[in-house]
Amino acid sequence: MTLDNKAETYNDKVVLQFAVMTVVWGVVGMLVGVLIAAQLYWPALNFDTAWLSFGRLRPLHTNAVIFAFGGCALFSTSLYVVQRTCHVRLISDRLAAFVFWGWQAVIVAAAVTLPLGYTQGKEYAELAWPIDVLITLVWVAYLWLFVGTIMKRRVKHIFVANWFYGAFIIAVALLHVVNSLAIPAGPMHSYPVYSGAVDAMVQWWYGHNAVGFFLTAGFLGMMYYFVPRRVERPIYSYRLSIVHFWALIAIYMWAGPHHLHYTALPDWVQSVGMVFSLILLAPSWGGAINGVMTLSGAWHKLRTDPILKFLIVAISFYMMSTFEGPMMSIKTVNALSHYTDWTIGHVHSGALGWVAMISIGSIYMVIPRCLGLKEMASLKMIDQHFWVHTIGVVLYTVSMWIAGIGQGLMARASNPDGTLTYAFVEIVKFNYPYYLIRFLGGALVVAGMLIMVANVVRTFKQARGLVETPVLKPAAEAGHA
Ligand code: HEM
Ligand code: HEM
Repeated sequence: MTLDNKAETYNDKVVLQFAVMTVVWGVVGMLVGVLIAAQLYWPALNFDTAWLSFGRLRPLHTNAVIFAFGGCALFSTSLYVVQRTCHVRLISDRLAAFVFWGWQAVIVAAAVTLPLGYTQGKEYAELAWPIDVLITLVWVAYLWLFVGTIMKRRVKHIFVANWFYGAFIIAVALLHVVNSLAIPAGPMHSYPVYSGAVDAMVQWWYGHNAVGFFLTAGFLGMMYYFVPRRVERPIYSYRLSIVHFWALIAIYMWAGPHHLHYTALPDWVQSVGMVFSLILLAPSWGGAINGVMTLSGAWHKLRTDPILKFLIVAISFYMMSTFEGPMMSIKTVNALSHYTDWTIGHVHSGALGWVAMISIGSIYMVIPRCLGLKEMASLKMIDQHFWVHTIGVVLYTVSMWIAGIGQGLMARASNPDGTLTYAFVEIVKFNYPYYLIRFLGGALVVAGMLIMVANVVRTFKQARGLVETPVLKPAAEAGHA
């Protein structure tokens, strides 16, 4: 449908572009994940080539899955949700196009420079300073687009999903700028302005809040919009959602030092990080319960609706990783878990269970609606994707938990005379079966993503292209009040 007055339709072009790139970068990023998982089992797969080596491909994987896959899902859904809940079109099509193309440029720049070995050496903030500058420009444009649209809204109320998306955008701007402050010393080289323990603390203030705001707050925005939409019921408790929001925002910022236990960081700072991490359990679970209980009275839908399965199992993984995280932040537990694959298991129960599943479920809802369809071409394929993905994640995380706890116990075991019971190579040998299981789990997850690609292609074939959906007028304006 084409309406003469563009302002009366939603800008779903940018939403659809980001949704499609979520799937594309999901496949690419996870394939790289499978490759590095394979390299840990078959080291010959490094092919003695610098740009194919584990050390260079690992940051490529983390950047591709977090910022390309997760990022595109966040852009797509936030721009979809802000228009639907504010009952207006985005403030500017050109700004939206700049955000889309600018972000793709950042991703391509990362995909080229990381294998070439350009890095600042800070985890999740590896990219060279010119790319950091581009990220800042795109992010400010995104903030402007999002906040500008909220300011133009036709309804007084700001729906809670927008609070979470808004916090994610503002916090990531702050984190990125503060942690990336550096003095350029060449076109691809710079020196950080911080040094020593302060550098480490700023890095993990960034790192942990990248988890809290990039990998959590924005995805909670997805939960608060797409779960009620799918269940066709209001959120279980709107009041709880507001408490959830403020508690999470207030507590996350202080938990970063749990990444630096037993380091040169002052001991009291480590303890503050641990205490805030423990407190974080409460708002995390409160919010998750709010999401799950939205289903009360409609549990039967879970039996037949594969998209709902994705959304609800995602929340279950969120609960699992936000229980595990606070436990791992306890210093005595961390003494065992740190430097082991337990951390990797925790990361992927959050990343593959929570982040990927809530994104996949939401994108399965966004794509058909932008194409004027009610559903994806095949619900059966979504169901297959759900099972393949879930089995893959379970294989991945369980194998890493067993490997991690085994490694921790072996590394600390000592003989009565004080010597170590196990040589390092024995611990490496112990890992092998678990690394194979992790590889198989990852391969299943990628197989699921390929089912998604086939379903997206079929859906595009069924549709006649992008459909300009008319802006839904609020009841009062439409004369129904
Ligand atoms: C097919 C799926 C995936 C596979 C096979 C995979 C595999 C891997 C492997 C082998 C590592 C390196 C572990 C090590 O250094 O010992 C890793 C690290 C990591 N991956 Fe994945 N991954 C997958 C999906 C994802 C997704 C979807 C995300 C995020 C949304 C993610 C986020 C991360 C992060 C943050 C790390 C670094 C963890 C740390 O430093 O503690 N991965 N992944
Ligand atoms: C209440 C919430 C959470 C707490 C308190 C928490 C706590 C922790 C702790 C203690 C570690 C290990 C630090 C170390 O020994 O180096 C860790 C690592 C990590 N967590 Fe969580 N976690 C939480 C939720 C999550 C969620 C939901 C995700 C993902 C979506 C996540 C992603 C990560 C990542 C990526 C790392 C590895 C960082 C690195 O070393 O590269 N966490 N977390």
